[in-house]
Amino acid sequence: MPALATTSDGFLLHGDPFRILSGAMHYFRVHPDQWADRLRKARLMGLNTVETYLPWNLHQPEPGTLVLDGLLDLPRFLRLAAAEGLHVLLRPGPFICAEWDGGGLPHWLTTDPDIRLRTSDPRFTEAVDRYLDLLLPPLLPYMAASGGPVIAVQVENEYGAYGDDIAYLKHIEHALRSRGVEELLFTCDQTAGDHLRNGTLPGVLATGTFGSRVEESLRRLREAQPEGPLMCSEFWIGWFDHWGGPHHGRDAEDAAADLDRLLAAGASVNIYMFHGGTNFGYTNGANHHHAYVPTVTSYDYDAPLTESGDPGPKYHAFREVIARHAPVPDEPVPAPSPKLAPTTVRLTHRTPLIPSAGRPVRAKDPLSADDMGRRAGYTLYRTTVPTPGHGLLHFEGGVGDRAQVFLDGAPAGVLERERYEETLPVHVPRADAVLDVLVENMGRVNYGPRIGVPKGLLGPVTFMGRPLRDWDCHALPLDDAPSTTTLTATDPEPVAPESAPTGTLTSRVPVPEAFASSGPAFHHGTFDVRTPADAFLSLPGWTKGQAWINGFHLGRYWNRGPQRTLYVPAPILRRGVNDLVLLELHGATTSDAHLTDVPDLGPTGP
Ligand code: GLA
Repeated sequence: MPALATTSDGFLLHGDPFRILSGAMHYFRVHPDQWADRLRKARLMGLNTVETYLPWNLHQPEPGTLVLDGLLDLPRFLRLAAAEGLHVLLRPGPFICAEWDGGGLPHWLTTDPDIRLRTSDPRFTEAVDRYLDLLLPPLLPYMAASGGPVIAVQVENEYGAYGDDIAYLKHIEHALRSRGVEELLFTCDQTAGDHLRNGTLPGVLATGTFGSRVEESLRRLREAQPEGPLMCSEFWIGWFDHWGGPHHGRDAEDAAADLDRLLAAGASVNIYMFHGGTNFGYTNGANHHHAYVPTVTSYDYDAPLTESGDPGPKYHAFREVIARHAPVPDEPVPAPSPKLAPTTVRLTHRTPLIPSAGRPVRAKDPLSADDMGRRAGYTLYRTTVPTPGHGLLHFEGGVGDRAQVFLDGAPAGVLERERYEETLPVHVPRADAVLDVLVENMGRVNYGPRIGVPKGLLGPVTFMGRPLRDWDCHALPLDDAPSTTTLTATDPEPVAPESAPTGTLTSRVPVPEAFASSGPAFHHGTFDVRTPADAFLSLPGWTKGQAWINGFHLGRYWNRGPQRTLYVPAPILRRGVNDLVLLELHGATTSDAHLTDVPDLGPTGP
């Protein structure tokens, strides 16, 4: 008997009338030491429930594994929610969208190009089943049936926007039920077009995702489901940003007015997002509608709680609206967290990327990153070009997603999937010049039919129409920060290629000197902290790359914007000496980085 039941127009929780006042917060986008603080702030805004997705790709980095610790310690997150008196809505996917790398689908699934994702294709459903076999047993104690906080579980995610394979949806429903999930199940769908028809299941509560036109959206939901509670399972109160686009904001009063309409209509709500957090490391997703556009590192979302967990204008406005419809705790609104005093960090050591490039795989034509088993990050390809002269370098099938081309170590140009670039005019200076192509996976598409599209170099490469063969393909081990002892042990001057530690560079082609002196490089510096506090890393004068502090991968930076600062959560800082490492892909006009006390997510646009 599920704790949460439905009536003809509402919910009952343990038999009593109940309205879900929920806010989305993804544990995997927030430092675990900050979970308790964010959950408390959810309760203080007047929420009675918190909602989270589960990222399959991180929980199961390889088939047969399950990671449930650190940032992925969902049981701990659930205990903290329960301790705060919050109920929980779980959205285990398997697909989660969420502007998350691949919508949460593991990259190892998509190395089979024929697999039909999110369908009843047994190659997909088998993988889902094996994942749920491992995932659900440790979560069952947290279901309301066992006295835990989880009162409802979502089946798939906006399936009606993707497909109409009802047998697949039924498979997911059965997969949850047969593994012991007794709680209320629900689907969520956009309310326009056929979505609600294609994404819903008999006997499973249908809910809607929308951010405005409340009455119309609720009417459509009611048409699709004549009886039962009305619930907006994603009430979009802000939005996410793409590199090169505007920073999205939504007026707090406008969003609050729509929240008021929803609550006045008697609906339940999940505010998406209550607290967005950060796409740390290589976890951001991308969209590909007309063109490929990757999502930025911040997932601030213009949410009630900012990326650094401070109550913003929406927090106050929403609290007021909720107070009109439900009791709100009579406790003061939390003050913003203290911030670190602005500090300049001098990056004193530079180490070229290449000596740490790792062992290559030799292949006639370049291997995709997926074929090399890479979920994320960078791949490096090296060969020689037999014929000198001016001509076109052509990458058949394009690049996934951004390729930097070097000839004899000198930068020769960049190709971006965003711009459909596949061809670069270059000058090959001599016979057998060394061609290096460094490719960045900018994030896997998380919405629509292009989920699972491969990364790296995607086909043969030609120069002047003649194929270039025999590639050294390096999957670069850049998930973790390179050890700072390695970095500080090197000379602050550029490391000559010959001085690369033996064994780390097994490429048949020697590293051109220019690459070592002016190519992509790690920069390392230290800074002192007296009392750890939140900060924002600002990098004026730097171009593009990755940033780590004390080994914690903050994510990507790019002068293209709109995002100008990276959030530095207080718990990653330590009293005393702290390390900053940047992987700068192009070059910097400065050797300074700055820790500031205000975020800059860029100019707000439509
Ligand atoms: C949809 C998805 C969410 C998210 C939002 C946009 O509603 O279900 O995962 O992608 O769009 O932020």
